[in-house]
Amino acid sequence: MLLITGGLGYVGSHAVRRLQEAGRDVVLLDNLVYGHREAALGVPCVIADLKDREALRGVFRDYPIDGVMHFAAFAAVGESVANPQKYFDNNVRAGLNLLDCMLEAGVKRLVFSSTCAIFGEPERLPLEEEHPKNPTNPYGESKLFFEKVLKWYDTAYGLKSVSLRYFNAAGAHPSGDIGEDHDPEHHLIPLAIGAAAGHRPGLTVFGDDYDTPDGTCIRDYIHVSDLADAHLLAIERLEAGGSSEAYNLGNGNGSSVLEVIRTVESVTGLKVPWKMGPRRPGDPARLVGSSEKAIRELGWRPQLNTLETIVETAWRWHRDHPRGYNS
Ligand SMILES: NC(=O)c1ccc[n+]([C@@H]2O[C@H](COP(=O)([O-])OP(=O)(O)OC[C@H]3O[C@@H](n4cnc5c(N)ncnc54)[C@H](O)[C@@H]3O)[C@@H](O)[C@H]2O)c1
Repeated sequence: MLLITGGLGYVGSHAVRRLQEAGRDVVLLDNLVYGHREAALGVPCVIADLKDREALRGVFRDYPIDGVMHFAAFAAVGESVANPQKYFDNNVRAGLNLLDCMLEAGVKRLVFSSTCAIFGEPERLPLEEEHPKNPTNPYGESKLFFEKVLKWYDTAYGLKSVSLRYFNAAGAHPSGDIGEDHDPEHHLIPLAIGAAAGHRPGLTVFGDDYDTPDGTCIRDYIHVSDLADAHLLAIERLEAGGSSEAYNLGNGNGSSVLEVIRTVESVTGLKVPWKMGPRRPGDPARLVGSSEKAIRELGWRPQLNTLETIVETAWRWHRDHPRGYNS
């Protein structure tokens, strides 16, 4: 059985759905700070905080767990700069608690949600796994630190892990019944869809003087269901005796902010109200990842990786759930 921390969140709930489709037994742990019970109905779920050592021990005692997928973390870059304590406390301290309980219970397989934010300002593109890592914010730093902890826990304790460094997770399950519901929302696609549908204020685009074809920043959007597939492949790799590894997960094709806005307009048939604003400090012009290693070693085959498909599935979810899970 697999323990899924943060399984009621956006990426975690899509991974849970994929694991269920694959016939895997799972138990979730989430503190509901950002999660939604409705995101994984019918799945055993413990509502507890990773910092609650006794609750965590109880989960390992009560369920026959032999592997963990660790999604639970805070992930807002701007907030992490204003409040690094919150990020190191949750993403590092609470994560270490999880590792302690895994070791106590003799559980030695972990798939970890890492991020492209560990790289910082890119020196060359697309970003490959070996690219220098100089995070420019506490969020990225907390995730890089945890990757380093995992390396040493493998050396010393034989805890095997796969770190999956996602680029921008986007889209929703093609069924339309689970999707992205962050509050506050920081991600461009739900913000643009919400603005188009009149549920959110108009967008501000942060700068049009970058060295990109249309002057706006380029990011790599990867479908959340494709990320879910990668998690299943990663745990299978560990179960087959594979070594610890890290993989970048993106689609290799960046899209500019204006391309995203145009795609939202063509998919929804609605206008996205937006205005141009100044650059945001610390935003690289382009962030695009190479997933060649995941394709080669995990056999990962992203299926839903065009911007149109990503926006179509996101639109289906937001159209039918204008106030997210509370709709
Ligand atoms: N969404 C992205 O684009 C993206 C990109 C790169 C990496 N990631 C990483 O993927 C993971 C999931 O991201 P998401 O967008 O699904 O976030 P999310 O906020 O939707 O999900 C995280 C879940 O973890 C829970 N949680 C947080 N701290 C907890 C704790 N101490 N104990 C128990 N539960 C806790 C929250 O309630 C939430 O349900 C995070 O680790 C994030 O850093 C996300």
